[in-house]
Amino acid sequence: MHYDPHRAQFHFQPPKYWMNDPNGLIQWKDEYHLFYQHNPESLAWTNMHWGHAVSKDLYHWEPLPVALAPTPGGCDELGIWSGCAVDNDGEPTLMYTGVVPEVQCIATGDADLRSFKKHPGNPVIARPPEGLEVTGFRDPCVWREEDGWRCVIGSGIQGQGGAVLLYRSPDLRKWEYLHPLLIGNKDENGAMWECPDFFPLGEKHVLLVSALDTVLYFVGTYTGGRLAVEHTGRLDHGPAFYAAQTFEDAEGCRIAFGWLRESRNDAAQEAAGWSGVQSLPRVLALSPDGAVLAGPAPEIETLRQNGAHKQGVLLQPGNDVTFEGVSGRQIEIGARIEVTERGRTGFSVCAAPDRAEQTHIYYDCFANELCIDTRGSSLSKDVTTGQYRAPLETKPRETVELRIFVDGSVVEAFVDNRAWITARIYPTREDSVEVRAFAEEAEGRMKTLDAWTLA
Ligand code: FRU
Repeated sequence: MHYDPHRAQFHFQPPKYWMNDPNGLIQWKDEYHLFYQHNPESLAWTNMHWGHAVSKDLYHWEPLPVALAPTPGGCDELGIWSGCAVDNDGEPTLMYTGVVPEVQCIATGDADLRSFKKHPGNPVIARPPEGLEVTGFRDPCVWREEDGWRCVIGSGIQGQGGAVLLYRSPDLRKWEYLHPLLIGNKDENGAMWECPDFFPLGEKHVLLVSALDTVLYFVGTYTGGRLAVEHTGRLDHGPAFYAAQTFEDAEGCRIAFGWLRESRNDAAQEAAGWSGVQSLPRVLALSPDGAVLAGPAPEIETLRQNGAHKQGVLLQPGNDVTFEGVSGRQIEIGARIEVTERGRTGFSVCAAPDRAEQTHIYYDCFANELCIDTRGSSLSKDVTTGQYRAPLETKPRETVELRIFVDGSVVEAFVDNRAWITARIYPTREDSVEVRAFAEEAEGRMKTLDAWTLA
């Protein structure tokens, strides 16, 4: 296969064609399993199957044959949509949405999760609850409580807003509707909530939903089958990250993946032969004030190669600092930045020597936000670019930690594990590979600065 600089190396992508949501995330025996929405025949978002890959470290993925395909004449004839995987006392069980209309189905896997059988009694939930006028009914998320299984399904109530509907079951086959876990407001957070994910985190419970082109989180107290919300936010402030799903690993860590959408047109995707990337695995935590924090799963450190380390870097506007030995399209950068009164301090990545292409990632001390600016990232006309911002309150002289990962066309950046932005870039020139540190408007100070090329 010829080298495609826009393909990711340590983010998962199928060998070719269309991919969207992560599905059925589970650690099973000594492997992590990632299933995903996939069209194995073309680049179109249609004919959805569950693709399948395994990994031992969340970064090196081995593609496996398609796990679930639509059954002609069956209730999933028009597609196997998103869903989850659970361990039913040693029997791995997948629950997904079959279309159309949207119904909920299950399938079981063999002991090594390599072959799958659909339940002959599908669908296990044949229609939305009686008396509810819903805007959609899909993407089951299942967990176990002391008295049996629970499931939430993404939905929306006509005229009101997005909703997550709660069910219960003794055996994953017979389901009884209880009531909504949470209902939103269509004017504030969308008319339909897709891909709900619900789990305990620290002392609280967290609900993720995908709405209005973004992943929202609700943190609160779960009692009586309802979530009393105490804090809300966005998991990522960029244009790419969507349809997040989490799982708990053997150590009790809660890890999220999200689908990173393309920012280039259909013709460019067609020419590349692929569409969609999975995000870095993000380990979630709760801050004392109720915000959801996320950091990359630590095995990323095993990918580090050539490194550069600097201490006490003073940056003058117009006088960039360049790096010996760290360049390319697979990069990690970490910098502890001292917040000033008004400057912007950060990095240009995938930069051409003459700056005809470059992407800026910086902390804006005046606006109190992390910013990724992709407006100069590509000379191609097929690409959508923008300036993306994530708010993060700080005070002058405080130190913030900026971390950046570049992998082909993926840029993920975050500050203090708290403000995340993921964006896509498609530089056209072979020499758009430089990394530079810069300050604008005022002097910038980096207490430490580390950069690596990643394998
Ligand atoms: C989210 C979504 C899900 C659905 C799937 C279909 O991206 O729309 O709600 O199950 O994609 O591919």
